Amino acid sequence: MCGIIGFTGYLNSAEVLLQGLSELEYRGYDSAGIACLRDGKVEIIKEVGKVSSLHAKVPADFTSSCGIGHTRWATHGGVTEVNAHPHRYGKVTLIHNGIIENYHELAEELAKGGRFPVSETDTEIAALLLDSLYTGDAYAAIKEACNHLEGAYGFCIMFDDQPEVIYCIRKGSPLVATHTDEGSVIASDMVALLRYSKDYFVLPEFHIAKMTKDAIIVTDFEGNIVNPEIMTVTWDTTAAQKNGYKHFMAKEIHEQPEALRRTIMPRIVKHAEGSELGGLSLPDFTADNIPDSLFKDVSRIIITACGTAMHAGMMGKILFERLLRKPVTVDIASEFRYEDPILDENTLVITVSQSGETADTLAALRLARENGARTLSIVNVKGSSIARESDYVFYTHAGPEIAVASTKAYTAQLSAFYMIAFRFAYVLGKITAKECSDYMEGLLDVIPSIEEVLKQEDDVEAISHHLVKAENLFFIGRSLDYALTWEGSIKLKEITYIHSEAYAAGELKHGTLSLITDGTPVIALATQSHVLSKTLSNVKEVRARGAFVICVTTKDAVIEPTLCDFRIDIPRTDDIFAPFSAAVILQMIAYHTASLRGLDVDQPRNLAKSVTVE
Ligand code: G6P
Repeated sequence: MCGIIGFTGYLNSAEVLLQGLSELEYRGYDSAGIACLRDGKVEIIKEVGKVSSLHAKVPADFTSSCGIGHTRWATHGGVTEVNAHPHRYGKVTLIHNGIIENYHELAEELAKGGRFPVSETDTEIAALLLDSLYTGDAYAAIKEACNHLEGAYGFCIMFDDQPEVIYCIRKGSPLVATHTDEGSVIASDMVALLRYSKDYFVLPEFHIAKMTKDAIIVTDFEGNIVNPEIMTVTWDTTAAQKNGYKHFMAKEIHEQPEALRRTIMPRIVKHAEGSELGGLSLPDFTADNIPDSLFKDVSRIIITACGTAMHAGMMGKILFERLLRKPVTVDIASEFRYEDPILDENTLVITVSQSGETADTLAALRLARENGARTLSIVNVKGSSIARESDYVFYTHAGPEIAVASTKAYTAQLSAFYMIAFRFAYVLGKITAKECSDYMEGLLDVIPSIEEVLKQEDDVEAISHHLVKAENLFFIGRSLDYALTWEGSIKLKEITYIHSEAYAAGELKHGTLSLITDGTPVIALATQSHVLSKTLSNVKEVRARGAFVICVTTKDAVIEPTLCDFRIDIPRTDDIFAPFSAAVILQMIAYHTASLRGLDVDQPRNLAKSVTVE
């Protein structure tokens, strides 16, 4: 939700900022802007639309050694050039990621002192406020501003009388930084730092980073110098590039076998022949520092997350209840945090997040901790807020996901739930070591199954031609298939703009069937043997009302050919692993339908990838 970047050093900052903004664009793409120091003055260039439009507006000979840049996902104020960042007032120029909740009250106060904004944004008020507090001591002004600001923020700030220096502060919104011989750079996400360094640090909340050409000095509010932990990413710049694919989403769909390999393999311990567990491959979380005692005496599990991560949780719920025999609820984080959930030390709250920065999920985690619950998070971004604030973290190793529509992060999250379910079912004595090992073998077999499914891409694309003109569409399924319909539906909606609904197949007749008319597309998931005949009965019901049916099922399933217009087969596995391959089919359907509709697959309208506002 908004991407910010700041640079001061020995490179042309305009180039660094524009390059970084294009890498951060997935966080928002309503408008973009830069502010650069040139001949002792701050020059601002802004443009509505994508970073490429801004790029076109920046003169080729525009050089500078210090500047800040922003790509916006509009919250307060429409998509206009005036509302685009950077904002400037008096001696202060700044960019912001987050929401200043009390901006209205602050604006009224500042107006009494003759300070009025020109934009409709909450951010500009922060510039007015800082300017009113600044008397030459940036630290004092920033600290005092934080006492007045409510909400979430990540700021990069330049003061006119401190050339080539950028100050940064954050609360809630992410900021990561690195310093190299080329200078100091800070951004919302590591992807924008990668071309400079693989090492970075997370700016701690309520700490001020002073960035100069030659160093980044981090201090707490008492003025003590702090040395944040340096972290290293294992991937390189190519991981955040399209590498020949037309879209990031296509690339990320195809990266799933590798993402799963990276997530699963390090967690498998093969026990030596002759030992008590001889020859068995068991999931082991010793290296993750997740103790076997985590589920001991747990009476209730709550999974909470947003969007796709929440859908992974829906799958986790079914698995946990089946294998652990413990009650599980799945809550949307933005609901959970404002209710009065029942939490105690025997409740385990699992938060799931690709970015590790989603504001509602983070707030849900904090609520769980405040109320004494145990917390475990499944997170993709190392060192992110959710990861840092959880008791225990299970990192997925999907690598950077750039397309707004989540794909590889989802299947990696599923694999995390599967491994957690297997390990703790074994630890709690619900399954034997041999059964656990067999499950792990099954999970590993998911990888070649997905590779096989990816080879069906041309067939899936051909079928997608039939959906291009659709206005409404239904996904139906039962059991694990039902959990997957939610993910299939969101994927389709967010990138194709076709309205769709996820429905439990057995529930259609309680109202929704009235929406099925001649030619209404229905994607039926029928991979679960124990409910196959029931699901097929529901398919018959929609078929009888004229639905155009695409059935995703397993190779060996016996289905009357007249029941569906198209059948897509996934490889036969144990039923519990079918969601992986089926998910890839649904991702490809969404991708090709959006692509055939000529839409911006990677950056769908109105959305952003990392939602750091409530
Ligand atoms: C946004 C993204 C979704 C994502 C959700 C949760 O809405 O567009 O793809 O699933 O946020 O994000 P998280 O980073 O917490 O998984």
